[in-house]
Amino acid sequence: MTFNTITTCIEDNVGTLTLHRPEAMNALNQEMMREVLQVITAWDSDATVRAIVLTGSDKVFAAGADIKEMLNVEYLDALQANFLNDWTCIANCRTPTVAAVAGYALGGGCEIAMMCDFILCAENAQFGQPEVRIGTMPGLGGTQRLTRQIGKAKAMDLCLTGRMMGALEAERSGLVARVLPCSELLIEARKVARQIASYSAPAVLLNRESVNAAMNTTLTQGLAIERHAFYSLFGSVDQQEGMSAFSDKRQPEFSH
Ligand code: CAA
Repeated sequence: MTFNTITTCIEDNVGTLTLHRPEAMNALNQEMMREVLQVITAWDSDATVRAIVLTGSDKVFAAGADIKEMLNVEYLDALQANFLNDWTCIANCRTPTVAAVAGYALGGGCEIAMMCDFILCAENAQFGQPEVRIGTMPGLGGTQRLTRQIGKAKAMDLCLTGRMMGALEAERSGLVARVLPCSELLIEARKVARQIASYSAPAVLLNRESVNAAMNTTLTQGLAIERHAFYSLFGSVDQQEGMSAFSDKRQPEFSH
């Protein structure tokens, strides 16, 4: 597959999708959305792709939705076309996703990073929801995911001032899982993704479904979902293999 706005590669059961519109700070335009949708859909139905890394360049992850492309969009066009909705393929994907963010992750850029299971970032990362500065607001989940991830105070601060938040503040706030030196970001993100891909796919699936349930349910409901998922893994060959391998002091060989 060849694309105009992204590059892709698959190695060791890990798909790496790189946003690539250097002339426009990787702004998220319609063509990029279609290309990302095509790749995520293909990888999500390919059992050999067991983890995905979403990244940009070392200077910019993505500077948000393409403002120039939105200049002439009208309300009914947006409503009827479900404008930008295909980006939610990242959140809906069943394959584990790791965002590797260096440089700017602004507006829709911050929002698609938050759609991933977790974010690793470089020391130069800058996160923000600057839409208010151009007379608009987040439209890909910024007000919702940010509030759940870092709390109302900081979400309001970012959405209402449009300021940027650096890597250390993002880590302190719980937006990112780890901050890494710029030169190690992609190497580490791929290593983490390979580690996830090496584990039993059903176990990974149920782990992430249970963590995600915590964002959408009461504690009692979430605990019930987790317990049922835990019990269900007693029916998996990989669980038997994992526990036998531990007892036998050998590495497990998962069949996924
Ligand atoms: N859309 C379209 N083009 C963009 C863009 C965007 N979001 N961000 C940057 N570009 C373009 C610039 O227009 C410029 O193009 P030209 O060379 O043709 O003039 C090029 O990328 C380089 O940008 P700058 O010259 O501005 O680079 P800089 O280093 O001075 O600043 C920046 C970098 C701080 C990221 C700045 O470009 C910026 O503030 N970008 C806009 C950020 C923004 O407002 N994002 C929110 C978009 S709305 C949204 O995302 C809604 C949603 O929730 C879905």
